[in-house]
Amino acid sequence: MIRADDLTKQFGNRCAVDGLSFEAQQGDILGFLGPNGAGKTTTMRMLTGFLPPTAGSAIVAGYDIQKESIEVRKRVGYLPETVPLYSEMSSYEYLDFFAHLRHLQKIDYAITNVLEMVGLADRASGLIRNLSKGMRQRLGLAQALLHKPEVLILDEPTIGLDPAQIIEFRNLIREISRDRTILLSTHILSEAQQLCNRILIIKKGKIVVEDTPDNLQARIKGSPRVQIRVRGDASQLIQEISLVPGIHDIKQFSTEGLFEIEYANGMDLRPQIARMAIIGNYDLLEIRPVNAGLEDVFLELTREDTSNDKE
Ligand SMILES: Nc1ncnc2c1ncn2[C@@H]1O[C@H](COP(=O)(O)OP(=O)(O)O)[C@@H](O)[C@H]1O
Ligand SMILES: [Mg+2]
Repeated sequence: MIRADDLTKQFGNRCAVDGLSFEAQQGDILGFLGPNGAGKTTTMRMLTGFLPPTAGSAIVAGYDIQKESIEVRKRVGYLPETVPLYSEMSSYEYLDFFAHLRHLQKIDYAITNVLEMVGLADRASGLIRNLSKGMRQRLGLAQALLHKPEVLILDEPTIGLDPAQIIEFRNLIREISRDRTILLSTHILSEAQQLCNRILIIKKGKIVVEDTPDNLQARIKGSPRVQIRVRGDASQLIQEISLVPGIHDIKQFSTEGLFEIEYANGMDLRPQIARMAIIGNYDLLEIRPVNAGLEDVFLELTREDTSNDKE
């Protein structure tokens, strides 16, 4: 289990992680989704007990990340963003090195076991430099699993893998998730959707959305949107449409005559809008539904707000 409470990290006067609170239980695959620089890696490094928070706290696998970081490290497997691999070692030697660092018992059994788990049993004595990118990633995962941790923290685990390797890697993560708590970061939305049972979208160190993939999808389907284009200036028409009951929002684009309306679920205001345009003597050039995918919402939520950003 993981419980973060107001977790905060400041680098100088820059706030990389800004008061994150969240929980994950055994069996959860919690997706940490956000653009580069959102604070995913920093949060993960704090949760693994490697980086002290500036403020706030977290309990991981039952222990406090600051007061009991050694206990935390014993119970957490961590796959960092870039896995440090020693290319002249064999896979077995690499795992053996970590097994000794962790003072494990029955090392040979443990290593054989994880190599089997990640599908590298036949590569045990082969050198790391001869492994493909996907195999290296699996070796990194083997390292993270070596001590049978109850919490697994995986920082962008599928980055750099080809599509087939990604599918394989996802299946592996699903398999090992049953009796563990997994926190996984990604900047790829579809990945979080396919793999995670809950998604946290973070932006500038803050949670902007927390929900299940299904609910996220449902939220989006909740409000139909339509894009409308008329010839010329649409300001007057927009003004009139804004008074129609059921309209939630109208967005005017910089392109002249182009705007988007959002209205209550279960309604279809297209005929009415079309009539208003005609009655108002507008040339109605286009009226089309906008299919908001989760991808749009993600982009919208995480879009850089450059207007009042000060370094
Ligand atoms: N050791 C560090 N020193 C100073 N700034 C850092 C350090 N690590 C990360 N940052 C900054 O903190 C922010 C969050 O970074 P990071 O946690 O790596 O984001 P993500 O993993 O989501 O891409 C970024 O602005 C990054 O530049
Ligand atoms: Mg990162």
